[in-house]
Order: sequence, then C-alpha cells, then structure tokens
Amino acid sequence: MKFWNISAWLGFFATAAVAEVYLSPDVVEGDIEEQHLQGILWRLNHIASSNGGNRAFGTAGYNESVDFILSHMHKRFGNAFDTWVQPFFHPFETTHAISVAGPEEEDVFVISLQYNTATPLPRGVSAVLIDTPVDDERGSGCFEDQWDGIDASEKIALVKRGVCPISDKLKLAKSRGARAVILYNNEPGETIVPASLGIANVGLLVPAGIIRLEDGLDWKERIADGEELFVSLIVDCVNEYRKSWNVIAETRQGDPDNVIMLGAHLDSVQAGPGVNDDGSGTAALLEIATSLMKYEGIVNKVRFAWWGAEEVGLVGSLYYGQHLSEEDADAIRFYFNYDMIGSKQPSYAVYADSDAHKTGGHILFDYLQANGKDVYYGGFGSSSDYVAFLKLGIPSSGIFTGAGAPADQCYHQPCDDLENINWEAFTLNTKAAGRAVAQLALSLDGIPARDKTSLNPSSKRGVQRELNQAAQLATVIEKSHKCGGDPGDDTV
Ligand SMILES: *[C@@H]1O[C@H](CO)[C@@H](O)[C@H](O)[C@H]1NC(C)=O
Ligand SMILES: [Zn+2]
Repeated sequence: MKFWNISAWLGFFATAAVAEVYLSPDVVEGDIEEQHLQGILWRLNHIASSNGGNRAFGTAGYNESVDFILSHMHKRFGNAFDTWVQPFFHPFETTHAISVAGPEEEDVFVISLQYNTATPLPRGVSAVLIDTPVDDERGSGCFEDQWDGIDASEKIALVKRGVCPISDKLKLAKSRGARAVILYNNEPGETIVPASLGIANVGLLVPAGIIRLEDGLDWKERIADGEELFVSLIVDCVNEYRKSWNVIAETRQGDPDNVIMLGAHLDSVQAGPGVNDDGSGTAALLEIATSLMKYEGIVNKVRFAWWGAEEVGLVGSLYYGQHLSEEDADAIRFYFNYDMIGSKQPSYAVYADSDAHKTGGHILFDYLQANGKDVYYGGFGSSSDYVAFLKLGIPSSGIFTGAGAPADQCYHQPCDDLENINWEAFTLNTKAAGRAVAQLALSLDGIPARDKTSLNPSSKRGVQRELNQAAQLATVIEKSHKCGGDPGDDTV
C-alpha cells in the first residue's frame, strides 16, 4: 500500500533538518521502558472498563481504542508517520440478555451459547418442561433412539450436557417439535464452561440456555414425582453487519519498496478487556513507534498495523492481505506478529518454521536467550494475524508467551486486566521486538524475497478462499436473522 505525496516529502525534510540522532537497535532498546508500557495498558484497560468491560469488534470500546492509537500516530507523531485507517464490514453477534424463569417464576442462573437462537421477544418461550433420560456414556439426547417415546412437541426439553456436541442435542429436540431446550451442566456449581453451537448450525436449532447441574437435578426429580413444571426461556440476541477498521501507520522515512511490518490486534473478546490479549502487542507497537519517530537513518520503511476484528476470525488482517496488490505484497519484506507477549507465567516462543522465518526471528531469539530466557522456536498455528502473511509467502516471525493456564489463566476472560501481565517479560519482549525492527530497518541483508513458489502457488487465492468462507457463513447468519458469537467449532 503506497502512500506518498508532496506534504509527506515536505514533512520528511522538515524532520530531517532538526533531527541528528540515528537509528540503531541499541537506542530503540534503550527507549523502551516498563513505565511507558504500563501507561499504555492502563489506558486500554480504562477504555474497556468505561465501555462495558471490553474493546471487542463492533463495540464502543473498539471505537475508542482506534481513537487512542490515532491520537498518537496521527495527531502527535504526524511528522514522522503517515497514518490511515482501512475500513471493512463483518457480522457482529452477541447475546444481549438471557433469562430462565423456573416453576415458581423465580430467576434461575443461566448462561447463553455462541450462535444461540433468539426466542420470540419480549416474552420468550413459556411451556411445560419435559425430562429426557440421562446417558453419561453415549451422551444424553445425542441420538435418535434416546428421544423415542418422548413427546417433546411444543414443550421445553430438559437435557443433560456432555459427551456429544450441544448442537446435536438441539437438532434432535427441534426435530421432535420442542420449542426450546434447557441444558443442565455436567459439573456442579456456577462455573459453567462456555460453549459454541458452531456457525454452521445457525438456523437449524432451537433456543437454548445452560443452567446449573443442581437446578437441573431438582427439576428432574420433581418431574419424576409427577409434577407438571411450567418454565420460560428468553434469549435476546443481535446479528448485523458492523463496520470496523485496521489502523495502519508507516514511517515517512525509508524505502517504500522494502517495508518491514509489525502487527498486533487492537480488538479484545467480548468477555473481557484484553490487556494481555492483545493490549500487550498493541502497546509494544505504540512504544516502538514512539521510539522510531525520533531517529534519522531509517533505510527501509517500517509499517505498523493494529488489526481489527482478530478475535472474530482474523478478519482485519485477512482483509488487508486480500487487498494487497502483488507489488505491495512483494514490498513487504518481513512481518512480525505480536499477540500476547506479556503472559503472567510466560513461555518464550519465537515463531519460525523455516530458515526464512529465522532470518528475522533469530534476532528475537538471540536477544531473549542472551537475557537468560528459555526461548524456543515455535511453529505458527492458524490463530493469529500472521496467517495472511504466511499465505502470501512473506517471511514472518514474532513472539508468543502462551494462552490459557498456566501461562495466562485469564485468557479471554474478564480478569485479563492490568493484574494479568508479567511486566518483566512484557518489557523484555518489547525490547526484543524493537531491536529486531531497528536492525531490519537498517539492513535487509539475508532476508529472502517473498516465496511465491512453494506451498501456495496461488497464495492470493488462498487468502481469498478464507475470506470467501467467512463471507458465506456471514450470509447464512444474515438470512436467518438469528444470533451467535465468535466463530468456533461445536463444543460439547
Ligand atoms: C463507532 O464509530 C462509528 C463511526 O464513527 C459509528 O458509526 C458507530 O456507531 C460507533 N459504534 C459504536 C458501538 O459506538
Ligand atoms: Zn489475541
């Protein structure tokens, strides 16, 4: 993506006239301070807490996150960077509200499912509750024969969770004429593991909610004693296209045909503020940009990308990859991905699964190793914004300190807040990232050209295919006007 005009040149010369200090890995490393990083993450956490607890795609919290980055890169650092936003649209889905009223019209603890189906509103579904047999081996309500002899027509079915995908249970309930399903959990207590019904099942299921095991067993017993229980379920959810943005900024200095890119996603999940995931990468990029803006002698252009809608399927970065011309893709000589680099109990993975990746990755690796870390080269997966770049054959690397316990127990949860950061690891990783980009900004010696031959002969078509799949699924949802959540496979 080329962005060059007269005012950019004027800005360049104006900056050149006053600046005297030259870029080096050492000066960038020296500029990066834990206190600055704390300040940035404090802001991101504050944005989440003043906008309903998150910075997710399609929300006011995301909008404010974009404004926060723009206020630095565009308003304050405008002499050193060209900054723009790249808009795109994607389906937004969320459950606004879910409730269950029990036989005594009491409020019962219940959680929703991703890709849930809305009930009629505002009253929801009210009906007689019927029980279904428990089968912990094959799963309850998972097979046709387990529904034989059960008259579910126009009723709400009570089904135990477990073993098979929940969507299987809901499909069978629907085929038997049930109006809704109340699942009860297979573990006691209010800690109910969230589940997705799978995007492919949208429109095929009945509304559902998951209640506590204790409540389910209580109702089951009363039904067995011959009581007729009347319950209701309300599921209110939304599905619509919403606009989102990637924020992209590049140094005015440097050769536009030799670009080093750094990426981090700016959105969080809906469940929490996303301080480690990926406030950490977001803050690292901003801190590195704050350093780079001070220096002369940037030979190769440095481009920062704060990606939108990563958590709902890498949408922003795939969109960016899809809209690059062949020339623009050729010009991107290396991509560094920073997504979760401050995990509380960090492991130090440097992405690389080829020698080409190590040409940039080894800078990160060597620095972390020299600082006593137990660093290793980890393979890329398919779960962050590097995917588009790998598909385009662009040499890539990055750092990842781990998701889920023990590395990050608050992964995708409300507690991914300021307490959920290992500041020492986060600062060190940012310094590593700063050194790596400074080194490549000075010289691309040893960095191979984009690989257009190997795995992906039609790499652009590969990116296109992924996007088309996402678009098709979006159409399914839009047609059915039902609600949902993050893309994901069916969960049990
Ligand atoms: C985000 O900003 C856009 C454009 O300014 C606006 O149209 C949209 O309503 C905002 N979204 C939210 C949830 O505030
Ligand atoms: Zn992430």
